[in-house]
Amino acid sequence: MARPGVLISDLDGTLLGDPAALGRFAAVMASWPGRPRLVYATGRTARSVWYEVDHGGLPPPDAIITDVGTAIAGSDREPWPEWPTVRATWDVTMVRAALLDLPALALQPEVAQTPWKVSYHAPGMDRAALLRAARTLRRAGIRGRLIYSSCRDLDVLPRGVGKGPAARYVLARWGIEPGDAVTAGDTGNDRDLLRTGGVGIVVGNAHPELAALRSRAGNRIIRVTSGHADGVLEGLSLVAPGWS
Ligand code: GLC
Repeated sequence: MARPGVLISDLDGTLLGDPAALGRFAAVMASWPGRPRLVYATGRTARSVWYEVDHGGLPPPDAIITDVGTAIAGSDREPWPEWPTVRATWDVTMVRAALLDLPALALQPEVAQTPWKVSYHAPGMDRAALLRAARTLRRAGIRGRLIYSSCRDLDVLPRGVGKGPAARYVLARWGIEPGDAVTAGDTGNDRDLLRTGGVGIVVGNAHPELAALRSRAGNRIIRVTSGHADGVLEGLSLVAPGWS
């Protein structure tokens, strides 16, 4: 890849988590002529992302994908109202009701719930428990997908929605080929994001749940040794030497 058109990166555990490394990342972004467009893709709310931009040293992005890919906003901070484009029946009360009887699921605080995302704390779910939750949704006629992150957070989203689909939507709107995008992440909710671009950077501090992610045609997975924002910089320097 000669010069990536876009960097789409997760925040917590990737760009955020090591303030000194974030400072180095911000300095590179500020001094790099013709730098790629910058997109954050996170489980956080838009409000908390703009807070980090205003007060936490996060460089100003060209767009943000928030709430695990269920919302997108531009650099003018206006939400893109057409996203998610899924207009199938999706009713969060039905999702909550269907999953009510599953053991060990505790709803996250109200601020984490949106019309498109039902989020639980569900520590230590194994594959069987995830399959059981998926089956329960299916039996209730809900076309949802389950995203499990950090061995703790369970997000239930409509099928066709998530960080990966949202990233593809941003790229299409900007007319950028997915192969010209570099992505970065550290946990389960980054899996489909890391699959989206030409290169996916798995930072050194990534959660073991990404251990099985392997390169495939048109999508190179790079595992770097540095953590957090330093890992993103390390990945970028491997993708396009001489950049940073
Ligand atoms: C963020 C969100 C939370 C979500 C988690 C994993 O922490 O606040 O709702 O479950 O990311 O996607």
